[in-house]
Amino acid sequence: MTNPLFNDNRMKLGIIAMNCSHGSTITTAENTWEMTWPDTREVAVMADRAGLEVLLPVARWKGYGGPTNFNNRTFETYTWASAVAAITDYSCVFSTSHVPLVHPVAAAKQCATIDHISGGRFGLNVVCGWFKNEFEMFGAEWREHDVRYEYAAEWLDFARRIWTQEGEFDFEGRWFQAKNVWSEPKPVQPVLPVMNAGGSPAGQYFAATQADMNFVILKEHEPEAGKAQIERLKAMAREAGREIQSWIHVYVVCRDTDAEAEDYLDYYVRRKGDYEAVNNLLDIFGMQSETLDPKVLDEFRFHFIAGHGGYPLVGTPETIVAEIDKLIEIGIDGVLMSWVDYKTELAQWIDRVMPLMEQAGQRSPMRKAA
Ligand SMILES: Cc1cc2nc3c(=O)[nH]c(=O)nc-3n(C[C@H](O)[C@H](O)[C@H](O)COP(=O)(O)O)c2cc1C
Repeated sequence: MTNPLFNDNRMKLGIIAMNCSHGSTITTAENTWEMTWPDTREVAVMADRAGLEVLLPVARWKGYGGPTNFNNRTFETYTWASAVAAITDYSCVFSTSHVPLVHPVAAAKQCATIDHISGGRFGLNVVCGWFKNEFEMFGAEWREHDVRYEYAAEWLDFARRIWTQEGEFDFEGRWFQAKNVWSEPKPVQPVLPVMNAGGSPAGQYFAATQADMNFVILKEHEPEAGKAQIERLKAMAREAGREIQSWIHVYVVCRDTDAEAEDYLDYYVRRKGDYEAVNNLLDIFGMQSETLDPKVLDEFRFHFIAGHGGYPLVGTPETIVAEIDKLIEIGIDGVLMSWVDYKTELAQWIDRVMPLMEQAGQRSPMRKAA
């Protein structure tokens, strides 16, 4: 097996959003992620050597204003994945693709190319559109919410045929009609893993019936509710004859004491948070996404500044490992991490948290560099 997504670790690990300035943290605090290629290379190689399973870019085309202009500098996700694949040798490297903005014939070849460069470690995160202003940059049609998922299903059906079907074929769909389609080489992996973060009923149905990983927003952090949410999703996939992994986004603040970690969180969120950018972001959610109701959005405001609505892993290494036990209990298979300072805090994660995860049986001993 070439792709570590399917290894036996009870809690898999990944990094999210390092292709965007500020990563997932909406703050003016010191040492936020500037997003340069030398820093990207350093973090990607460090993660790969430590055996992290996933490196995931997000697809963003425009910043959110405010003093940080959060996420305004972004590397394009397929070309990013291609380069990251070439400098790593273990982690699964994802591209995140807005499927309405790229034709399946081109995208399928991009995916196959990266799968070859990585030696069979590629994965595709399918997104259907979140922010209308990004689509306006392309002059692209902003379809009705649920139709976006029907479009994505046809797009993926077409791409999957391109990845697997030998020889030429015609494709007749609602949106795509194509003649004598041909694409070589096929990907290295017999099946390319697909991730999707749909949270609405249509999004969940798409993830359950089409994806190998659902990237979930936990609607409540209380364990019983979380467990029920994850069990529902996995049951939906099973009804469709599939097994699906559930991953969540976590923001990490690890310090020598719990109090120090909480103080730093408070500092970068309450004292240094970019409330203008987060309000812009939440306005867009309120208008354009059906995932979260307004009350829940209010509760999540703090978490959006802290780490884009993710789940907090805040405290000492011991506190964090105990919290990960709870996530395993909920049924979470993997966490995609973000920090204020990716470089320093990833190094600390590898040195201080990963050995404890191994002792706790959450992961097998750290993979050594080849
Ligand atoms: C942590 C996280 C990161 C996401 N990243 C992107 C992204 O980079 N680009 C994008 O268009 N959508 C992104 N999405 C949005 C999802 O694809 C999806 O649209 C969203 O969760 C709302 O679900 P719904 O489409 O079912 O309403 C992300 C979602 C989550 C939870």
